[in-house]
Amino acid sequence: MKKFFSASEQDTVQVAEYLKGILKPNDVVLLEGDLGSGKTFLVKAFCQLINTEDPASSPSFAIVHHYRGAQPVNHFDFYRLHYESELDQLGWEEMLNQGAISFIEWPQLIEKHLRRYYKIKIYFEGERRVFELFKIDKTNQGEK
Ligand SMILES: Nc1ncnc2c1ncn2[C@@H]1O[C@H](COP(=O)(O)OP(=O)(O)O)[C@@H](O)[C@H]1O
Ligand SMILES: [Mg+2]
Repeated sequence: MKKFFSASEQDTVQVAEYLKGILKPNDVVLLEGDLGSGKTFLVKAFCQLINTEDPASSPSFAIVHHYRGAQPVNHFDFYRLHYESELDQLGWEEMLNQGAISFIEWPQLIEKHLRRYYKIKIYFEGERRVFELFKIDKTNQGEK
């Protein structure tokens, strides 16, 4: 597990910088944190750093956005998904395996279907935000 403290948007850009250094095509990053904690901000910062052709937006009204670029990014927001059947209809498995890096906000429904992924938990500690990054491999030994 790796822990980052963020007292400013610029600190969160540093988290995105770190992700840029480790993420590879087809990696999946689950983002857990309350509304306003900075999930979308982190995805936007990441997309800016890797220069996607499409700027990241807030996908709350769409369930998924795809940002094109040399390294494409999928940005899912499952806030409005409540049932397994809705998840099934998305065809998400295909989307995760076509070379993009995928970020998923509100990932509760999908997590049990994934074997290897990163998870970032965001929470407030006083005035600052904490970003905890976990690498999860269920084929192996669990959270690190
Ligand atoms: N340290 C910080 N890290 C991330 N966002 C921050 C920070 N400080 C202030 N913000 C602001 O907080 C808001 C987070 O909103 P957003 O990323 O949409 O949250 P979420 O997607 O988790 O609901 C943004 O308006 C962002 O500018
Ligand atoms: Mg959001």
